[in-house]
Amino acid sequence: MSVTYDVAVIGAGPAGYVAAIRCAQLGLNTVCIDDWKNGEGKPRLGGTCLNVGCIPSKVLLESSENYERIQHNFPAHGITVEGVKLDIATMLARKEKIVDTLTDGISVLFRKNKVASVHGRARFAGGGALWKLEVTQPDGDMQRIEAKHVIVATGSTPRQLPQVPVDNGRVVDNVGALAFKEVPKRLGVIGAGVIGMELGSVWRRLGADVTLFQAHEIFLPSVDEQVAAEALRIFSRQGLTFRRGAKFSSIKVGKKEVAIELEDKDGTAKLQFDKLIIAIGRVPNTAGLDGDKVGLKLDENGYIDVDEHCRTSLPNVYAIGDVVRGPMLAHKGSEEGVAVAELIAGQAGHVNYDTIPWVIYTSPEIAWVGQTEQALKVAGVEYRKGTFPFSANGRAHALQETAGMVKVLAHAKTDRILGVHIIGPFASELIQEAVVAMEFGASSEDIARIVHAHPTLSESFHEAALGVAKRSIHI
Ligand code: FAD
Ligand code: NAI
Repeated sequence: MSVTYDVAVIGAGPAGYVAAIRCAQLGLNTVCIDDWKNGEGKPRLGGTCLNVGCIPSKVLLESSENYERIQHNFPAHGITVEGVKLDIATMLARKEKIVDTLTDGISVLFRKNKVASVHGRARFAGGGALWKLEVTQPDGDMQRIEAKHVIVATGSTPRQLPQVPVDNGRVVDNVGALAFKEVPKRLGVIGAGVIGMELGSVWRRLGADVTLFQAHEIFLPSVDEQVAAEALRIFSRQGLTFRRGAKFSSIKVGKKEVAIELEDKDGTAKLQFDKLIIAIGRVPNTAGLDGDKVGLKLDENGYIDVDEHCRTSLPNVYAIGDVVRGPMLAHKGSEEGVAVAELIAGQAGHVNYDTIPWVIYTSPEIAWVGQTEQALKVAGVEYRKGTFPFSANGRAHALQETAGMVKVLAHAKTDRILGVHIIGPFASELIQEAVVAMEFGASSEDIARIVHAHPTLSESFHEAALGVAKRSIHI
């Protein structure tokens, strides 16, 4: 017996669960199928983002920043705290509790919106007027589902380094790196990208000696070059060791440590680590979906091939989130979910890929929207720029967070804002003003003429916008 729905969503990460809720809001009879289980085998909605990604990583960032602040920042305020202790078990339990609260919250949202939730692994079992899916449940039982429309939101998994298999013991991916039971004394990180920087920073703040390896010379290549250079200076000063352009001659995983031999521009080195994080990117998750059996096309990089409206090669089958082209970001997937639900309901769903904000949650944070200065140069676009350092911002001094800057790039002739790049305190929050400005086609002059409250960090964005016309006041 199969149950028939208007829409079946495969995957309940931020792309899939948001798509399912929006479909239900629009009156479509919707089921969301997901196979995620926590360590105790309990089904948990929310996918990578809520379980082992965005949320738990930010929870640990906050804990580790508190630990660092109390030791290194408080004395300047005249506050001395003696006997500071670290209890990793409590820290991890807090993280798990927050994950439980938020993942349970999705179940509540599903019930409230009447989204049917099915736990198990889905695969395409046939087409026709209705798509046929088979869902294998953990006890081996099979559930059959038919749907007029299918939204594939199966996400991504960590890219593997063939010679060093992840066991989430000594060699870990993001899952293991969010759950170390004690602070590793010597932590190696292969991949100085977003995960490497965020989680490497967490464990450094908690006391690990962290070395980040990167195959390429260029640090954070998708970040504006000026910001990336500033970031490298700041993070090196914080005590992170970078080995860029590293070529490994051997990586041996022993019972007590991981031994790495490598060559980079500083010569050859033999290093030992207690734990090794592998964070060299993520790959789209299409395994076991049997899309190939019904003609679902993949692109040359293994992502499900979609057009600008997330339509796949199959009629009434859409794909969204990490499993399709574009940045692997939770909010990008969620917006695609909303857009696809609205398209299915006959509305004009749309995602503006040009104004998707990026944030790297290091300390200080890095955030940007729009084009980098190097991309504008390559494209031959004439631009003007304004920059403003947080060291000239009153609120940043009060916060004791004066490193970094805001940079505004505007078209030389039209003055339209083309990109905004921030490294500094609460960059993740500040960037949203730039996103709104760009969505509304604002010029740097528009921002320069908007009143910004004093004293706020946002005054730095105001001053950087003034700087485009060389009329910053406080620098
Ligand atoms: P996923 O979240 O991966 O969800 C896919 C779901 O589908 C999973 O539950 C999976 O089990 C299920 N599934 C797969 N195949 C099947 C099947 N055949 N049948 C049933 N179910 C299936 N992004 C941000 O924007 N901000 C951040 O701060 C951030 N931090 C991150 C930190 C880390 C450590 C990591 C690893 C990622 C982070 N990301 C962040 C990226 C973000 O997690 C992803 O972009 C996001 O989770 C993608 O959402 P998704 O719904 O496409 O896929
Ligand atoms: P990444 O693409 O950000 O970084 C991977 C790094 O590994 C790069 O610097 C690359 O040069 C390096 N690398 C690749 N192969 C290598 C090799 N063989 N040896 C050494 N170095 C190698 O990927 P990462 O950090 O794994 O994150 C995956 C994705 O998850 C991100 O691209 C992002 O989309 C998402 N994410 C987003 C976050 C956020 O929004 N704050 C936080 C964490 C992840």
